Amino acid sequence: MKTILAMLIIIAAFMCSFVISAFTQDSAPGSSGTVLFNEHCAACHPNGGNTVNPNKPLKGSPAMQKFDVFLTWIRKPVQPMPSFPSSKISDQQAKGLYDYLLLLKETKGTWK
Ligand code: HEC
Repeated sequence: MKTILAMLIIIAAFMCSFVISAFTQDSAPGSSGTVLFNEHCAACHPNGGNTVNPNKPLKGSPAMQKFDVFLTWIRKPVQPMPSFPSSKISDQQAKGLYDYLLLLKETKGTWK
């Protein structure tokens, strides 16, 4: 009986860690949305704002409505925003970044 309980706990713990890693897209080191955002975007877009052009924050941006549009934007943005080719942020990493931004907006109502 104890063995079964122990196994159940192990299985539950395993499933939790799996769900968490899938959720945060943290499977490859350095590729999580948080890390990518802090590394590449946070300097100009702290809290989803825009320190360079305050009229163009991430909050409510048309480029944040759909992943395709977001991806096209970071590949070829309007200057002075630098472009992010796939050598810097892969399509998959961009998805992680995008999901991270949406998640922040939806769950916390805040951007970082
Ligand atoms: C050097 C500063 C800088 C960095 C770094 C930067 N941006 Fe920007 N970003 C800007 C500026 C300036 C604009 C406004 C461009 C314009 O005039 O349309 C902008 C606009 C945007 C917009 C569209 C806002 C709108 O509605 O027009 C999105 C989305 C965006 N950035 C996402 C990102 C993401 C994601 C990253 C990181 C991968 C990033 N930016 C990194 C400066 C930056």
